[in-house]
Amino acid sequence: TNIAALVTNDPSLGRASPGSGESESGGTSRTSALGLIQNAAVVIDGDRVAWTGESSKAPATDNRVDAGGRAVIPGFVDSHSHLVFAGDRTEEFNARMSGRGYSAGGIRTTVAATRAATDAELEANLVRYLTEALRQGSTTLETKSGYGLTVEDEARALRLASAHTDEVTYLGAHIVSPDYADDPAAYVALVTGEMLDACAPYARWIDVFCEKGAFDGDQARAILTAGRRKGLHPRVHANQLSYGPGVQLAVELDAASADHCTHLTDADVDALANSRTVATLLPGAEFSTRARWPDARRLLDAGVTVALSTDCNPGSSFTSSVPFCIALAVRDMGMTPDEAVWSATEGGARALRRTDIGRIAPGAYADLVVLDAPSHVHLAYRPGVPLVSQVWRRGVREV
Ligand code: NIG
Ligand code: FE
Repeated sequence: TNIAALVTNDPSLGRASPGSGESESGGTSRTSALGLIQNAAVVIDGDRVAWTGESSKAPATDNRVDAGGRAVIPGFVDSHSHLVFAGDRTEEFNARMSGRGYSAGGIRTTVAATRAATDAELEANLVRYLTEALRQGSTTLETKSGYGLTVEDEARALRLASAHTDEVTYLGAHIVSPDYADDPAAYVALVTGEMLDACAPYARWIDVFCEKGAFDGDQARAILTAGRRKGLHPRVHANQLSYGPGVQLAVELDAASADHCTHLTDADVDALANSRTVATLLPGAEFSTRARWPDARRLLDAGVTVALSTDCNPGSSFTSSVPFCIALAVRDMGMTPDEAVWSATEGGARALRRTDIGRIAPGAYADLVVLDAPSHVHLAYRPGVPLVSQVWRRGVREV
């Protein structure tokens, strides 16, 4: 095996491992545990981290890469995106920025463009956005179907996605297909029947947009339960545009994550706090729809595990940049920089029920980002600046 050490003298190395290590800045228990090491080295053996610690104590290795005093953090885990689509929605965005509101209805525009695209066009788009995300430090990316809404088009989206990531989510229940506008029950039967059969082989997760104008709580429960019987694990688009049953349903079904969580009652927050379900916040969506921010501080103070992701999609959040989302979360959602970086790495891993990514620790994949900055805090402190200078995935330098 090729054993290499990535050495960075001076600044911090975020070995995000809750409970171990001390915080620079205090804060709450789940997120104060970045486990910063000064004058650090990471030893990589093949695709995994073999050792972390102070560089003066590092074991001998075949190669040595000097990160030159820059901060090394875990690769970002973007646990929520929608990257299999064609076209964009520039006009809709423009109209919104001149005062129009956002609704789930815009999804239909992308459904039409996606159905009309060839496999090659869809895959080229997917690769383009995955590459864009990798350059910005995302070493794991979950992505969903949901812009096909026919058996063939949903299965095609998932087949294409599964060639590029292991974290694939079946979202046939994004909205009721326009072909079934008069008979939503028949569409739910399709999503839980023939479409599920065609899609399950390509997916790990099943998701539903539980919202007015999409699927109500009972429909969402039927869809997620059907998916579970086929071996897919639930995650939920919950409480994005309004209060509703999504979060409680996610907890009831032990979903890995309830995503968005913008409109929460105290009972919703309590339910999350007493569950294994992660609250995944997607500030790119509030930014791009001019909606109110999800209250990360309220969730963290209640003891909820919080993840931060991009929701990259052409309608509500056309950004693939986790650093941008970190900056928004710190500026507008009450998170400290430590908390936001934790949520975008280990938090994302928890939202995918993974322990082999999202932290720099022996045994985990060697997914690392070298920042052109002396500290991870600069991700929020220097918003909009391209600070990601190297990206290592599975022990290989990719950027
Ligand atoms: O997560 N909320 C549902 N789905 C996406 C938006 C999809 C779209 O507008 O095309 C979201 O925000
Ligand atoms: Fe989404």
